[in-house]
Amino acid sequence: MSTNEKPCTIRECADAVRAAIERNGTNLEGLRSDLLEAARPFISRDDLFELGTKRPGNHIDNSKYIYYDGELSITLDQLPKDMVVPPHDHGIWEALIILKGRLHHSVYDRLDDGSKDGHAELKQIEDKIFQPMELAMVIPPAEIHSFTALEEETFILTIVGGNYAANRHYYNVEENTYVVAKAGAVKPKKAA
Ligand SMILES: [Fe+2]
Repeated sequence: MSTNEKPCTIRECADAVRAAIERNGTNLEGLRSDLLEAARPFISRDDLFELGTKRPGNHIDNSKYIYYDGELSITLDQLPKDMVVPPHDHGIWEALIILKGRLHHSVYDRLDDGSKDGHAELKQIEDKIFQPMELAMVIPPAEIHSFTALEEETFILTIVGGNYAANRHYYNVEENTYVVAKAGAVKPKKAA
């Protein structure tokens, strides 16, 4: 944050994110870049890590609500190093802005037609390491991802544009299977 700039409030950040969502409509690629721009003044705050209210994280212990209005949610999450969050879907887009550390993030397409219960064929379509101030995103229909923090202090700002599907799929890519589970019910494992 430069000295002549007032810190961006949580409300201003949420307003900017909402405006980005409205401005882009179904242009989800535009949303990707606009979300980062919208969040940038906020995530530049010196006191960023002191903000928020503790929440029960889906996969992690250290998670805080920055903002939630019943649809839009913005959370600040610490990801333990080497913890593999297995491939899962959401029913909605999800954006992860890296604040500290590094994040290995993979996105998958589902190739099968979903006709066989418990069976899913995934194809990896993105496999990338993200650095601070970069944004990883999943957007329907390619909204399956997995990720792993590569450093001890890896923090992300997670922005979700609406409510997650009540039942989500957690996939096993090697075995071409999935289970339906409530968010967070499938526990992450340590990277080999
Ligand atoms: Fe996710």
